[in-house]
Order: sequence, then C-alpha cells, then structure tokens
Amino acid sequence: MFAAQKRHGLQNLEPLEKAWTPEPFKGSFVGKDIISVEQFTSRKEVEILFSLADRMREVVKDIQETRVPRRDLEGYRVVELFYQPSTRTYVSFWSAAQNLGATYQTMIPGMEAYSSAVKGESLPDTIRTIERVSGWVDLIILRHPEDSSSMEAANFARAPIINAGSGRIAHPTQAILDLYTIQNELGRIDDLVVTMMGDLRNGRTIKSLSKLLAIAGRRIKFNFISPEILRMPKEIVTCLKEKGTEVWESGNGDLMKVIGETDVLYVTRVQREWFVKQALEEIKMRLCKTIEGWDQGAIMATAEDYGEQLYRSAVEGYVVNSEKLQKAKKDMIVMHPLPRVGEIAAEIDNDPRAVYFRQMGNGLYTRMALLVAVLGKG
Ligand code: NCD
Repeated sequence: MFAAQKRHGLQNLEPLEKAWTPEPFKGSFVGKDIISVEQFTSRKEVEILFSLADRMREVVKDIQETRVPRRDLEGYRVVELFYQPSTRTYVSFWSAAQNLGATYQTMIPGMEAYSSAVKGESLPDTIRTIERVSGWVDLIILRHPEDSSSMEAANFARAPIINAGSGRIAHPTQAILDLYTIQNELGRIDDLVVTMMGDLRNGRTIKSLSKLLAIAGRRIKFNFISPEILRMPKEIVTCLKEKGTEVWESGNGDLMKVIGETDVLYVTRVQREWFVKQALEEIKMRLCKTIEGWDQGAIMATAEDYGEQLYRSAVEGYVVNSEKLQKAKKDMIVMHPLPRVGEIAAEIDNDPRAVYFRQMGNGLYTRMALLVAVLGKG
C-alpha cells in the first residue's frame, strides 16, 4: 500500500486483484514499505541512507561509552515477525530499535512453529491480528519463506513493512548493508568487477545486491560463478544487462579465471534447505500429469534423496581458501552475507581482504538508518 493511502486509511479493503508494486522512494523513505531494491530510483537515495548510517555509527560509539540508548524513536513500536531462522538480521534490527529507544516487540518467537500459521492462518490475517490486538504498531519487520510475502503483507498492513528476507528473491536491507560495506572498504561503488559465487539460484542476497549495484553503481561487471544447477535466474541476468552492466557467467565454477580481475568476491552458502523443494519441483515436472495416484510418501522420499545428491554435487569445489586468494588483487575484498558453512576457509579470516565480519557489523548502522528514515526521524 502506498504511504499516502496508508496514512489516509484506505487500506484493508479487499485483496488487490492486479499485481501491485511497492512505491518508489523518489528521494524519501518516510512511511514507505521497504520491499525490494527496485524501489530505488536514483543513487541519491543510497547516499541518503549511507550518510544516515555514518551518523548511526557515531551514535553507537556514543552509546558504547555512555551505555545510555538514544530516545529518537521513543514511543514507536517496532515488531519483528520471523518465519525463518535468523541470527544477524534479527539481532541487528532488534539492537537498532533498542539503541534508538523504540518499544521493541517480537510478538511470537519462531512464527513458523508457534503462531497460528501452524493452524493454517494466512499471512494477511496474521498481520491484521498483530496490528489490532496490540493496539498499534508503527513498523513491521518480516522474514518469510514465500517470495511474495512482503508484498502481500504490505498490501494489508497499516504500518510500513520492512522486508528482512522474502523467499528466494529479495533481501533489500542486506543489499543496502552490502553496498555500504563496499563503499566503506573500497571507497567507491563504481568501476567494479564483482564476482558472485555459490548458490545464485536460491540465494536472495546476491539478487538484491546485484540489482542495487546496477541501479546505484556505474561501470559494473558481474562474474557469476556457480554449478550449472545453481545458476543466476535468466530474468535477473537480462535485467542487469538492460541496466547497462556487463555479465559473464560460468556454469562450471571457474573462479580462477576471474579471481585476478575481481574487486569484490561475494561468496554465498549453498542453501541446503531449498534442495528438497527443488528436487520435488523437478520430479513433479517430470511426472507431469501422471502424478495423481502416486504415493506421496514415496515421492517425498525420492525428493529427499535426490535433493541430497544435488546438494553434495553442488558444494564440491566451492571453497575459497588462501591458495585461491594468492592470485587475487591486494586491494580486493571478500564478502559473505553469512552464515558460512564451509565455503570460506577459516584460514583467511585474518587476511585484511576478508571483510565479512565488518560487513555484518554494518548491518546495525544501516538498519538504524532505515528505522529513522522510514519513521521520519532521520
Ligand atoms: C542470508 C539470508 O537469510 O538470506 N542471511 C542473512 O540474512 N545474512 C543468507 C543465507 O541464509 O545464506
């Protein structure tokens, strides 16, 4: 729902029949849903967030010394609804709200296990419930396994929705913190060769970051390195090319071909949790109409086996280690949204080019920036 409509209470009538797209930022974040990076209309908006994040870094330093949180968001109620596991995103939003003095609530920890979703309640009904039974809510931060979840929630919520990860397609706040990290570490977001490696099919961080780089950066070249079955979806490659970026794809994981030219090596986890789903989709497609009459248990067992096989073949050979980094530039950086599960060897943690721990720290500043920007306190 557009901010103006939300403010005037025009929401919550009927579900929208037509595809609905979130409101473009056009220079301001106040009252707006943060659903996808496609809402950025110019580099200027990224710069606004970066300078707010720089300010928040100072605020955090101050709080570390005084141990007294700020009062900028006093009286505002921020809610987190997480239907998928999270450590960094969850805690950084939580700390961001606490640092700024907001009243912070996790209504129900582990929504997927303990909310009425287990009984089959729809996301719109849960959103309606949260807003009504808690009296008021000023901001909802949502993580959910469905691609369209944040869009759907935004369509029904009175409060702005911040997408903290939706399905396999979008993670806009991660993209903002990633881009902020690139700016901070390399001093620029232009003239970059960005190599993204790992699970480009299921990962949502690389999709949002590549699109944001294409909107905000200039003269960007992407190298996409993945096993054949985990390639970046075609529509994203097409969209990036249309925005004027250069794209090179390797389906056989050939990192060494491009490591020497890389400025940003963005490594991702091969997402084991999606493999069974992917295997199931494939099996159903192959069985086509004949699926009726098949034993569902047998199909699931086959999907689990097949999923595990796909996973094992996908992870092989995707580890970044000191040997591979020997060929890399001295001033490049290695990023990872984390959690890592073996694709970055611990031996490079102390390499000055490994910035993934600083990257996750930037999540706090950029999320504090987003809270004040959306709530009009920036
Ligand atoms: C990522 C996510 O949830 O998409 N984690 C994060 O938010 N930092 C990446 C992942 O789960 O691999």
